[in-house]
Amino acid sequence: MAFRARAFRTASRLAPLVLVVLAIASCGGTSEQYPQSTLHPKSDVTRMIDGVFMTTVWWALLVFVLVEGALVWAILRYRGKPGDAEPAQVHGNTTLEIVWTAIPALILAMIAVPTVRAIFETYEVPKGDALEVEVIGHQWWWEFRYPQYGVVTANELQVPAGRMVTLKMSTVDVLHAFMLPQLAGKRDLFQQRINTLWFRADSSGYYSGQCAEFCGIQHWAMRFHVAATTPAEFDAYIAGLRQPRTPGGAAAPAPAAARADTTASMGASTGGQADRRTGGQAGAQGAGGADGQIGAGAQAPAGQGQQQPPMGPAPGDSTSPAGQGAKLFASRGCTACHALDATSSAKMVGPNLANIGSRRYIGAGVALNTDENLARWIQNPHDMKVGVTMPNMGLTSDQARAVAAFLRTLK
Ligand code: CUA
Repeated sequence: MAFRARAFRTASRLAPLVLVVLAIASCGGTSEQYPQSTLHPKSDVTRMIDGVFMTTVWWALLVFVLVEGALVWAILRYRGKPGDAEPAQVHGNTTLEIVWTAIPALILAMIAVPTVRAIFETYEVPKGDALEVEVIGHQWWWEFRYPQYGVVTANELQVPAGRMVTLKMSTVDVLHAFMLPQLAGKRDLFQQRINTLWFRADSSGYYSGQCAEFCGIQHWAMRFHVAATTPAEFDAYIAGLRQPRTPGGAAAPAPAAARADTTASMGASTGGQADRRTGGQAGAQGAGGADGQIGAGAQAPAGQGQQQPPMGPAPGDSTSPAGQGAKLFASRGCTACHALDATSSAKMVGPNLANIGSRRYIGAGVALNTDENLARWIQNPHDMKVGVTMPNMGLTSDQARAVAAFLRTLK
C-alpha cells in the first residue's frame, strides 16, 4: 500500500513535466500538419521573423542552462551535512551585483537590436517590380484586388512564387487582422488607413491564412488561402479571370454590352465583348451602378487581346441545370450582391464569384467546395455559417442545385 501511494505521488509530481514535454514535442511537425504554424517559414519575410524568434530562443536557452546549472551545482556542492558548523554570514557583493545587472542588459540588447531592425524592415515595402494586391476585410470574408491587372477575387489569392508581393490592407467594417503565418506574418486592418505587408514566396505551394482579430460571431470562419504558383500559371490565372462571364439562360445580357462596344469601335461583336472590362450583365440588370474602369492604366496580361468565349452556359440555354441555374441567379437578384466578372470594379456586398467553380473552399473556408456543399450553402447559408450577410433566398433544393451547377461552370 505504502509503495502504491509513493508511486502515485511520484507520478502526480511528474505529470506537469510530461505535459510540458508533450507540449514542446507538439510544436514540431511539418508545415502540412500545421498549416498555420509560424515555425515553418516559406518566404523571405517570414524567415526574417523566424530568425528573430530563434535568436530569442537561443539566448533564453543559454540563460536557462547557465542559471539552472549554477543552481543545481550550488545545491549539490554546498549541501549542509549533519554536524556542519554555521557557514560564514555575508551581506551584499557590489562586484557580483554589477555583473548580474550588466550581463542581462547586454543579453537584452542582443535581442532588442535584431528585433527592432526586423520590425522596421517589415514596414519597408519594396519598390520596383512588385505584384500589388489590395486586401479588403469584410465580415466575414476577404476581398483581393489586383490593381495592376484590373481584376478582383475573393478568399483565395494566387501569387507567383519568387516574385515580390506587396499587400495594401484595409477593412470596410470592423477591425480584422490578416494572418498568413508561413508567407507574410500578421497585420491589423483598419478603416481609413492602409496597412502593408510584403513577401516573396520561396516556391509553389498552397498556404492557409485566417483573420486574427475578433470580428464577430464568424471570426473563426474568416479564412483564406494563398496559392503560390509558377509565373506561367499565374499569367494563365489572370487571363482566365479577365475572360467575360455570362449568366447565359434567358437573361443573356452580354450581347447588349457587346453591341455598345461594336458601335463604338466598329469591330467584330466578339471583339467588343472581349475588350469589355466591366460586368456588363450587372449593369444591364441595374445591380451595379458603379460599373467603371478598374485600375486606370492596368496592364493587360499576355493574350488579353485574343478573343475568348464568355464563360458559363450558352446564352439561351434554359434546359441544362447550369442554364437554369444561370436564369435563377439573374432572376432571384443574386447579382445585387455578387459580381460575376472579375473585372467588375463595383463595390459589392458579397464576394466576387468569377472563379467560384474552381475555388477549394466556400463561405471563407467554412466548407470544402463540393457540389453538395455549394448547393447546401445556396439553399440556406445560415445553416453552415450563422450570422452570414447572405440571406436565405427561399430556393428549393433542386433550384439550389441548379445554381450550384451554374456556379461550377465559372472557373
Ligand atoms: Cu475578421 Cu476576425
